[in-house]
Amino acid sequence: MNSTGPEDPLNGGRTTAGVVRVGDTVRRPQGAHSPFVHRLLFELGARGCVFAPRFLGIDDQKREILSYLPGEVPGQLGAFSDSQLDAAARLLRALHDATPESPLRGIDEVVCHGDASPCNAVFLHGMPYAWIDFDSAHPGSRSDDLGYAAWLWLDIGNDDYAARMQARRLSRFFAAYGAANRVDPTQSILEAQEKLCRRGGVHQDWARQCRLWTLKHRTVLQASP
Ligand SMILES: Nc1ncnc2c1ncn2[C@@H]1O[C@H](COP(=O)(O)OP(=O)(O)O)[C@@H](O)[C@H]1O
Ligand SMILES: [Mg+2]
Repeated sequence: MNSTGPEDPLNGGRTTAGVVRVGDTVRRPQGAHSPFVHRLLFELGARGCVFAPRFLGIDDQKREILSYLPGEVPGQLGAFSDSQLDAAARLLRALHDATPESPLRGIDEVVCHGDASPCNAVFLHGMPYAWIDFDSAHPGSRSDDLGYAAWLWLDIGNDDYAARMQARRLSRFFAAYGAANRVDPTQSILEAQEKLCRRGGVHQDWARQCRLWTLKHRTVLQASP
């Protein structure tokens, strides 16, 4: 499929330069991991999943062609309401539940999104309804994705939110996913934070600060709300 019509830059992300909208499609430069992502998006599409873009092919500039998902994508973390957080947790569950039969998960539990941040979710009428940006997708465990998602959606580590309030929102987020009593939310958040600290890069300092905050407030976070 060739690029036809005007190209409107989509500048919301911070990693991939050159993402554009062309009509009902998005064109995005490919990376080394793209074949995995394309297979995943193809599988999700074949299963009728509407919470991820369709993979539509490669254009004449060797960019991936994805379906454009209407709505808004937050440019940064935010103060989300309980119902928005519930919807995000359910959306992550929907993605995970669509992958246990996929060969892409290998010997792991599911295919993880890998970067299930609000900045990779499309909102319509104020509610998240789809994931984009599967560049970090990988075989893994539900709790890997869930800990990372809870960290970012709740903005754990931001002093604007009291630990007691975060404890309530955290247990609600895990309950909305359906993981209550199966995983220790605080532990899975710490693991996600440690992973990002180890990886380095531009978010390393922020991840370190968030980890210290989580450790400092661990007892409150782990207490029953
Ligand atoms: N399939 C899509 N539908 C609608 N908007 C999209 C889609 N893919 C990307 N975008 C838009 O492009 C921006 C950057 O895309 P993203 O894939 O998240 O790039 P990055 O790797 O830089 O985070 C997003 O913030 C979003 O606004
Ligand atoms: Mg992104």
